[in-house]
Amino acid sequence: MKILVLHGPNLNLLGTREPDVYGSMTLDEINARLVEEGHELGAEVTCLQSNHEGALVDALQDARTWADGVIFNPGGYSHTSVALRDTIAAIGIPVVEVHLSNVYAREEFRHMSLLSAVCKGKIVGFGWKSYMLGLMALIE
Ligand code: DQA
Repeated sequence: MKILVLHGPNLNLLGTREPDVYGSMTLDEINARLVEEGHELGAEVTCLQSNHEGALVDALQDARTWADGVIFNPGGYSHTSVALRDTIAAIGIPVVEVHLSNVYAREEFRHMSLLSAVCKGKIVGFGWKSYMLGLMALIE
């Protein structure tokens, strides 16, 4: 089984970005845990990050050709991107939306995700473990 873990804008700054909200682990540390956990569960995990909406569209379209599913933290694009919603709807492989923070306990504009309705499921609020829970659920 092959899984893409895709991180959206500003997640490359994890570790130093608002650590009270997003925790102190860096993206590299989170990715290393995901690769390890995937290995334990019999899946090959590939991690990518981009700050650019079009690059995220390209990565999702490309995943259709090689991945069995995607763990996706779309960052701020969750709340704005019709393009990413259309891509997820188009690719025909399961996508799990994850967020480190509990978006429902934050500003109102974060309560709405344009992507959730076309995702297989969604996990929010467990810090870096949101990714781990998403990975476990997707592999199951
Ligand atoms: C986030 C939540 C988004 O609202 C925010 O724009 C992010 C991170 C999260 O993981 O909690 O960049 O996706």
